Parts: sequence; C-alpha cells; structure tokens
Amino acid sequence: MKALHELRSMPSRSWLGVSFDVAKIRQDFPILEQRVHGKPLVYLDNAATTQKPQAVIDAIQRYYSQENSNIHRGVHFLSERATEVYEGARLKAQRFLNASSTRETIFVRGTTEGINLVAQSYGRTFLKDGDEIIITAMEHHSNIVPWQILCEQVGARLQVVPINHDGELLLDEYRRLLNERTKLVSVAHVSNALGTINPVKQIIEMAHSYNVPVLVDGAQAAPHMKVDVQELDCDFYVFSGHKLYGPTGIGVLYGKEALLEAMPPYQGGGDMISLVTFEKTHYNILPFKFEAGTPHIAGGIGLGVAIDYLSRVGLEAAGAYEQELLAHATRSLCAIDRLRVIGTAKQKASVLSFVLEGVHPHDIGTILDREGIAIRAGHHCAMPVMQRFGVPATARASFAFYNTKEDVDALVQAMDKVIEVFG
Ligand code: ALA
Repeated sequence: MKALHELRSMPSRSWLGVSFDVAKIRQDFPILEQRVHGKPLVYLDNAATTQKPQAVIDAIQRYYSQENSNIHRGVHFLSERATEVYEGARLKAQRFLNASSTRETIFVRGTTEGINLVAQSYGRTFLKDGDEIIITAMEHHSNIVPWQILCEQVGARLQVVPINHDGELLLDEYRRLLNERTKLVSVAHVSNALGTINPVKQIIEMAHSYNVPVLVDGAQAAPHMKVDVQELDCDFYVFSGHKLYGPTGIGVLYGKEALLEAMPPYQGGGDMISLVTFEKTHYNILPFKFEAGTPHIAGGIGLGVAIDYLSRVGLEAAGAYEQELLAHATRSLCAIDRLRVIGTAKQKASVLSFVLEGVHPHDIGTILDREGIAIRAGHHCAMPVMQRFGVPATARASFAFYNTKEDVDALVQAMDKVIEVFG
C-alpha cells in the first residue's frame, strides 16, 4: 500500500476550474439547489447514482405528456413517434460506445441485468462441467453472483484474480489462471469500491490469446471516460443509465454481433419473436431478440438525452476535472489522523473509499448527513473487497463533474465534526 506520507505529498496539480465552468453546469441540475438539514446539499454519492440534468427530466416529462405510446406495434401517429424517439436513443447509445451497429446495442434494465443476460444466455449455452470463468477480487456482487449461479447450473468453476494492497489486479496471477479450461472472463472496468481503473485492453488481449471472450462491467467507467468497444475489442460491455445522468431501470448491453446471433433469447414474450405457432417460434432479429416485453421506453429516451448532455459537457474535460477533485480530496483527507484510504491504485476514477480508526463508517455517514453531505457507507455490494482489506465497511465519497472544490472542503471540514463527536 502507498504510505500515507506518500499520498499526502502527492503533488498539488493545477486547478482546472477556470476551463471547466462548473457553476454553469450546476444550474442544469435542479436537485443540487436544495438544502438538507438546513445545509446546502453536497452530493458525493455519484457512484451509487448520479443526479439528472433538466434536459433529461424534461425529456421524460415530454414523453409522458406528449409521446406516450407502445413502440414497434402501433400504426398510429403516437406509436410511430415513440418508436422513432426510442430507436433514436438506441442510435445514440451505439455511437456512445462506438458499437458497429444498433444490432449490437441491447437495452436492458441496467448493468446487473446485462451480466445476468450473458450468464444465462451465453453461459448456459456454451459452458459445461469443468469449464472455468475468471473474475477478479474487486468485483461488485453483480459480477460475482450471476457467475456463481451459472457455475451451479452447468458445473463450471469460478477463478478469482487477486489484488494487491493498493487495489490493483495481479496480472501475473491472471496470466497463471488463464488456460484451455477458461471459457469466459468478466471484469470491472472501474471498481466501485476502490476506484481502480483496470487495464481492460490488456486483460482482453490476454484472454483472446486463448480465444476466451471477455465481458467488461462498465457501470463505473462509462460516466468518466470515453469507451470504444471496437478499440477495446471486448466481446460484451455493459453500463447503467442512472450512473450516467440518465434514468434508473435502463442500461445497455453491447455484444459482438456474431456472439449475440449465436446466443438464444434470455426471456420469451412479445417483441422478441417474428412468428409464433404452438409448434415452433421464430425469434426476432437483433437487438429485439433480447428485448422481450414492453421496455422502459421513457428510460431509453431519457438515456439518449443524457448521452447528448454528456457529449455537450465533454467526457474528456469532465474526466480531467474529476481527477482534480479526486487529487484534492485525497490530499485533504489523508491529512486527517487515523484516516486510511482504501484503494490507492495508480490509475483511479473519482471514487474515494476510506476508514477512520475507531469510528464505524455508518457513523461517519450519519454525521456527514447532518451536515448536508451525502456519501455512501457500507460494503458497496463488494463484500469480498471488504474482506480483502480486513474492514467491515468503508465510507465512500464519489465525485461527478458537477461537484466543486468547495464540496470537497465541506467534506473535510465535516470530518472534523466526526472526530469531535467520536473522539
Ligand atoms: N453499485 C452502486 C454503488 O456502488 C449502487 O454504490
């Protein structure tokens, strides 16, 4: 692990506030104007979910007040209009990931459903007794449990790449685990509990040298960095709309067309068929084969608008600004006695997990809440990470591009209150 003195002496980098107009951006997020317990809201729980810009809120309102209708079915005006806007959103999602076509861009409820879809459709079809699936020690439960369920169903085995004390993957161990029994690798692009950015391109290359497909869980990466699925050459990529300034209940699963073609449907129902008889059913073409039932139409439309918004802000500028926030927060928090940062990888997204000796993270969360500051405290749906670091839970501040240096300073000041109360 990086010694505290090393973290404390991380060079102070120039503040990007001048080129990134955060004050203007904040005006797009009405929720940020409110007070909580009489204090201005400081929202630092962005890894759990992000706030929504007015443009997204307006799009959802517009859909229900002017466009609401079922899609792909009606011949009437409203249905055609809703279909057009929803399919337009799919096109935006395709371009956002640089997928080669909308056939590779499947709307799902979120990252969790996307991973379950691959586990149940791809996994149950192509994996068998004795096969191995590689994940890592820093996965969210949603990238552990679907594979455990699959392993029970088909008799496959889960292999776990360990991490070092900074929260970085041990790539030599990964290399050692890859073999002819490996049939799938599934890895987080960014760890939700530690913030580590994994070298996914290298991980994919290594898996491909064994002809093993790779799923990348992009829930914590897509909001912070440009993702190009063709450049990565990943086989599957999943992200959630609600962590990307869009609505809850909608996300995207990218899959290479040849793989998706070879996979059976995940769920049966309307919209995923082309012909049904009692003798045999013919499935719809991609991507609809994987989209049974009436989807979250407003969610898809809202996600499309969130993607537009993000591209107007500029992912690169936003990501660089978030790095400034992370560096400032890391320096400031590390100056607090008895505070330990959990997750000190060299490459990190704007997630900062920490523990304070003698104080339970839930107590930290509660005191900060009284100061109007929202952080997450708990195991972050990554219990094995907590076990790895020997802590029951962490406090976690996670930053978005609408956060400010003052938000970070408010967090640091409120930590003084925590120390005052708990000694
Ligand atoms: N996966 C989300 C988080 O890390 C909920 O908080």
